[in-house]
Amino acid sequence: MGIRIKGTGMFVPEKVLTNADLEKMVETSDEWITTRTGIKERHIADKQTATSDLAYAAALKALEMAGVSPSELDLITVASVTPDKLFPNTAALVQRKLGACTCPCFDLEAACSGLIYSIEVAHSMMAANKKYKKALVIGAEKLSSIVDWTDRSTCVLFGDGAAALVLESGDEIEGDFYVAGKLAADGNYGDILHLPAGGSAMPASHESVDGKCHFIKMGGQETFKLAVTAMTAACKEVLADSGIAPEQVAWVIPHQANRRIISAVAARLTIPEERVYANIDRYGNTSSASIGICLDEMNRAGMLKHGDCILLTAFGGGLTWGAQLIRWQ
Ligand code: UT7
Repeated sequence: MGIRIKGTGMFVPEKVLTNADLEKMVETSDEWITTRTGIKERHIADKQTATSDLAYAAALKALEMAGVSPSELDLITVASVTPDKLFPNTAALVQRKLGACTCPCFDLEAACSGLIYSIEVAHSMMAANKKYKKALVIGAEKLSSIVDWTDRSTCVLFGDGAAALVLESGDEIEGDFYVAGKLAADGNYGDILHLPAGGSAMPASHESVDGKCHFIKMGGQETFKLAVTAMTAACKEVLADSGIAPEQVAWVIPHQANRRIISAVAARLTIPEERVYANIDRYGNTSSASIGICLDEMNRAGMLKHGDCILLTAFGGGLTWGAQLIRWQ
């Protein structure tokens, strides 16, 4: 039995927030944001749009490319740190929008590593059980809903967006897109990148709102250093496990958190920047959506060739991180 990525899709809201727009909101500059992060603009959803709407729009595109109808789906997962509600899960809300029968639906929360965690889970389910033939794997975020727009150290970084993959298994499919993977987490660092309130530890209260506890808090410098070390180590482990040398990697698709992190990881892997995909300038950090947005852009632009070894790597709150080597079919 083989497993392949049959379709990809992405969606970002129409509204663009540029660095020049941010200069009018907080004390920052296009120069600072560009040199420190590589971000020029990001897309921001309006008040009425929820994460499930972004996810649904990306899913429609992936399903259309795959030629799969919602009623054929055997599984829907959504990775997100900005679910519509604490429950029901966002995957079930997407299922309702798609009209996709009664297939199992669940959310997976691994922050910016959410998509690669979800690929690992969905792929494992499909490999273990033939009844999961068609899976819709989504990473979707409305990060603008948890950003403190008065905090210049975080508000310039994030954007909204969604990406979806349709995975398909079958006896007629040759080979498996998944070659090797490494997932990891270290909860000891949970407090350097987190959203303090809104869960059972700190339910919403006047104090939590007044204390701005419903917004992303991040120790930027510490996160930066850990991100470079962890992603590099995960990538090296995955390459060693799969017997693939850095020169054989056609593309690295890293989580888009900071252009300097991307460059530092590429340098440590000795993979030239021409083979490292980045679109952070246009979308900012879209957390669990970022790798999927890259993959879809590259796929639609015809940049991915049959047999290409593609190295995915991510890092995020938890802390969580990992890498996956996939082969394009
Ligand atoms: O996606 C999940 C993982 N997330 C990440 O991996 C993000 C990792 N961290 C980063 O990308 C970087 O640490 C940041 C982009 C967040 C910050 O860049 P940095 O080079 O680490 O800057 P910094 O935090 O050390 O701040 C340097 C200076 C400070 O001023 P002083 O103390 O030197 O006077 C900040 O107050 O830059 C100041 N600053 C700003 N200035 C203009 C912080 N934010 C801004 C801003 N505009 N937006």
